[in-house]
Amino acid sequence: LTFVVGFFKSLREREVKSPTRNNSIYNLPKDFLIGTSSSAYQIEGAWNEDGKSPSIWDDFVHFHEKSVDDHSNGDVSIDSYHHIKEDCFETYWNVFILYFPKFQHYRFSVSWTRILPNGSAVNDKGIRYYTKLIDTLISNGIEPMITIFHWDIPKWLQDLGGLTNPIFVDYFTAYADVLFHHFGSKVKNWMTVNEPFNLCTIGYGSNEWAPGIVSRGVGEYLCGHHLLLSHASAYHLYKNKYFMKQKGSIGITLDSRFYYPKNSSVTKFDLQRAQEYRLGWFAHPLFSESGGYPNVMVNEIEIRSKLEGRSFSRLPKFSNQEKAFIRGSSDFFGLNYYTSRLLSVDKTEHDPLESPAWFKDSRSLIDVNSTWKCAKSSWLYNVPEGLRDLLVWIKDEYNNPPVLITENGWSDEGELEDNGRIEYINAHLKELSKAINIDGCNIIGYTAWSLFDSFEWNRGFIEKFGLFSVNLTSPLKERVPKKSAYFLQKLIKERKLS
Ligand code: NOJ
Repeated sequence: LTFVVGFFKSLREREVKSPTRNNSIYNLPKDFLIGTSSSAYQIEGAWNEDGKSPSIWDDFVHFHEKSVDDHSNGDVSIDSYHHIKEDCFETYWNVFILYFPKFQHYRFSVSWTRILPNGSAVNDKGIRYYTKLIDTLISNGIEPMITIFHWDIPKWLQDLGGLTNPIFVDYFTAYADVLFHHFGSKVKNWMTVNEPFNLCTIGYGSNEWAPGIVSRGVGEYLCGHHLLLSHASAYHLYKNKYFMKQKGSIGITLDSRFYYPKNSSVTKFDLQRAQEYRLGWFAHPLFSESGGYPNVMVNEIEIRSKLEGRSFSRLPKFSNQEKAFIRGSSDFFGLNYYTSRLLSVDKTEHDPLESPAWFKDSRSLIDVNSTWKCAKSSWLYNVPEGLRDLLVWIKDEYNNPPVLITENGWSDEGELEDNGRIEYINAHLKELSKAINIDGCNIIGYTAWSLFDSFEWNRGFIEKFGLFSVNLTSPLKERVPKKSAYFLQKLIKERKLS
């Protein structure tokens, strides 16, 4: 015990020094939320326990083992399924309560196939697991926030075409209904879908992610279309059937990057266009005044589809009724921001099947600035100013909606003294506080990705994003706080950045 206490004390002593602050730009509002996040497939393990059936990720990692860089999978992962108390800061960590951060909120996702293993009968054991998780969080003063769907489509639904089949909308709504019914009296913050852009462009535009379907510029758009309809359908269900009693809020989590011109030939219009194809694809139907996809996408994809010899556009059309159904169906704008890019415009004609839709249809070429620092993940460069610029873009484009940063984080080798992560989070929070205090953006909170080092999709366990490290080789799978966890703990108390 002395050794363990000593270890935590030594970590505590390494805590970052008190910031010198004299600048109110870097004060975070009192009611600003600071929390952390995870997702079911990445942390739960127990992939076939207690009645859970396989999702597309279970299938993908089992049948395309080599698609994951370290050939690992999420079968066990950090075994959160069996570590509820520790993961909600209840058991043994309480002994060292002073040394552990309690976040204000915890955003986690529910595994669809734990709840509805075959699409109809509700699995009581799944309900019991999440009930216990939610109760434990609440009793420890942590606000639960649920992501209904973080990419783990049930295999039984993928067998019917998954997100390319419009039936997805009905099944998704029925699943959301079960969650609202069982958890809605305690959970007041819901996110329907996580990062539709990445799910659709990588999952349906490449074989790198489940379901590994390569249907570029066709399946990708169908996937997005059905996700938007699914989101709106769950939103209206909540508002019509549950809101009166449960009084919660429900939104979506979108992701994007900010685009800076690579050279002087890139115009403002080019940058705007790239962002409309990226964030606007999902944000425009939900948050714009007119609703529907951005005009630039509708017009250009229609023309390109004709040139390709098609009699209809590859981008599906919303009826007026659907447009109205989707528009405004999000109480807040969940935003995942990690990085930015330099943009130039591709003038060459490409084979429509050559690259994922965004690159091909928006004719974007991307690059990075050589001064940007790169994380362990090759795609992740530290560009904090991109967060502020993106927040201002959202404010201007969509009439300043309430934004919750639902993810932001940095990957490294997993070191406990994770100064790189602290530097990244601190710099992003500074840009965010400028967006609040100078630009007048309406930002309600910040959610660090991630609570734990966990299964990072096709990169396996090589890239670590956690505020806590996990000993994967021990049966206890001990969670150990990193320096960044203390940094956030201090920030939650002091609300001032330096
Ligand atoms: C966003 C995704 O939501 C999450 O699952 C992933 O681990 C992080 N990005 C980091 O890549």
